Amino acid sequence: MKEIKIESKLYEYESLNELPDEVKSLMMDAFEARDKAYAPYSNFFVGAAILLDNGEIITGNNQENAAFPSGLCAERTAIYYAGSKYPNAKILKLAISAASQNQKTTSPIPPCGACRQAIAEYEVKQKTPIEIYFMGVQGKVLKSNSIATLLPFIFDKSSL
Ligand code: THU
Repeated sequence: MKEIKIESKLYEYESLNELPDEVKSLMMDAFEARDKAYAPYSNFFVGAAILLDNGEIITGNNQENAAFPSGLCAERTAIYYAGSKYPNAKILKLAISAASQNQKTTSPIPPCGACRQAIAEYEVKQKTPIEIYFMGVQGKVLKSNSIATLLPFIFDKSSL
């Protein structure tokens, strides 16, 4: 038996203002999307903004439903819209911002497991990594250079 160690490297920015201009602007698109989320059940508002290699920006937010499992996270709303509208475009960057109504969200909120799996699908499909930036409403921003950092041991089509 031998031990297998998996290491993940993330990058931390002190605030929105420390981000490169293009990413800051993408994050502000995520803020705008977040404010339009439909989250009457959780009161947890999430926005996502995607920059494609054709220059287009696609945004999405969480859409909830009285039948709870029928709702969808912001990241998947955005990524599936991007995939449906521009099936041949590559996703370069994904910015995510989350806000709770119960507390000031000042620490980075990572994408849920199901969204990580969805992001992984597109990274495998396009064969290039997706930069992922995530934060609350203010405070630190975390950056991952690829979904592999957030989802080591991914399950993908190579196993099928
Ligand atoms: N949510 C997202 O939109 N993205 C995530 O990665 C985590 C959770 C949404 C789903 C639900 O509408 C609310 O946040 C509370 O879980």
